[in-house]
Amino acid sequence: MLAHTPPMGWNSWNTFGENISEKLIKEIADDWIELGLLDAGYQYLVIDDCWAEKKRGKDGLLVPDHNKFPNGMKVVSDYVHSKGLKFGMYSCVGTMTCAGYPGSLEHEFVDAETFAMWGVDYLKYDYCYKPHHIPGHILYKRMGMALKNCGRDILFSACNWGADDVYAWIRSTGAHMYRSTGDIEDKWESIRDIALSQMDKDCYSASHCYNDMDMLVVGMYGKGNVGRGGCSDEEYRTHFSLWCMMNSPLMIGCDIRAMNRETVNILTNKEIIALNQDPEGRQAYLIERGNIGYNNVKVLVKPISDGSFGIGFFNMGDTDARGSLQFWDIGLPSLTGYGFKMRDLWEHEDIGVYKENYTCDLKPHHCKVFRAKLVKD
Ligand code: GLA
Repeated sequence: MLAHTPPMGWNSWNTFGENISEKLIKEIADDWIELGLLDAGYQYLVIDDCWAEKKRGKDGLLVPDHNKFPNGMKVVSDYVHSKGLKFGMYSCVGTMTCAGYPGSLEHEFVDAETFAMWGVDYLKYDYCYKPHHIPGHILYKRMGMALKNCGRDILFSACNWGADDVYAWIRSTGAHMYRSTGDIEDKWESIRDIALSQMDKDCYSASHCYNDMDMLVVGMYGKGNVGRGGCSDEEYRTHFSLWCMMNSPLMIGCDIRAMNRETVNILTNKEIIALNQDPEGRQAYLIERGNIGYNNVKVLVKPISDGSFGIGFFNMGDTDARGSLQFWDIGLPSLTGYGFKMRDLWEHEDIGVYKENYTCDLKPHHCKVFRAKLVKD
């Protein structure tokens, strides 16, 4: 079964946009392995929009761009597979993709067969140039049905930002992940706004169908196709921690070939990734009470399958702030003799046992993330 835990991989769009090629994809796959990204759990290498010729072939089939992919897609897919990775591609519900290449409308079944033939393991399916007479849920059900019956296991990544009532119908389409927010940009405000907009959506993300908060911008530093500006390492750390706590798929968006040490450290922090990849797939919920008096600090709690909790304090504001969690708020009655053994997942150290609450001070846009294990005092 696909997407038992949030899918992890890399997508070409954030950094490269239309500047993609067989050469680029092969170099990305090579460095992926060398940097240990596969060991950390990243598996799906996804080519986003702009891979096709502007017109379908005479037989009605999609044709890879002759200059970018001169040897076709099967060669690229074979190379990606030879590295132990899975291969992903992109299409769209409408007449055209968002960047103006052929879309899959009325070609859903034949396109799914083409993708299967090319060895595709993951399809991102966008929401541009859609017909007005067919509702969004039908368009996604069409491709969901086509993929399920194309003879190959293909993970279905719905990119349906802007679709009405998406939370109500997304599970009926067979999607393994879905995007309900607009495109991320490589700047703090974008990260903040996406995260804040999804903090009350914890009941809409679970195993086999995850709420996708969009590809990561960690390590882009303003160099890329989406937004300019860039973020500090602390902001990228907060971004990664939020996506992990909130069960988002983790799709790297920077140039893997040019990552610095800090970017690698963030993206391969196994203790933080373990929260995201927990087999029970429970999204973190927001503690309202923890914020009283400290409005800018959001406290998120993620129940983990072994009985422990991921606990994150996120200063979303622009001034220093204090975050606090009363353990009563996550279900621990007072004076039980129990406490939480807290481990700081960025410092990689145990910080002690806390009985009633935990409080910390945070600089603007900083976070602290812990694994808290219940212990008897
Ligand atoms: C939309 C999607 C992006 C990307 C582009 C490609 O904007 O939301 O993630 O796929 O289309 O054109």
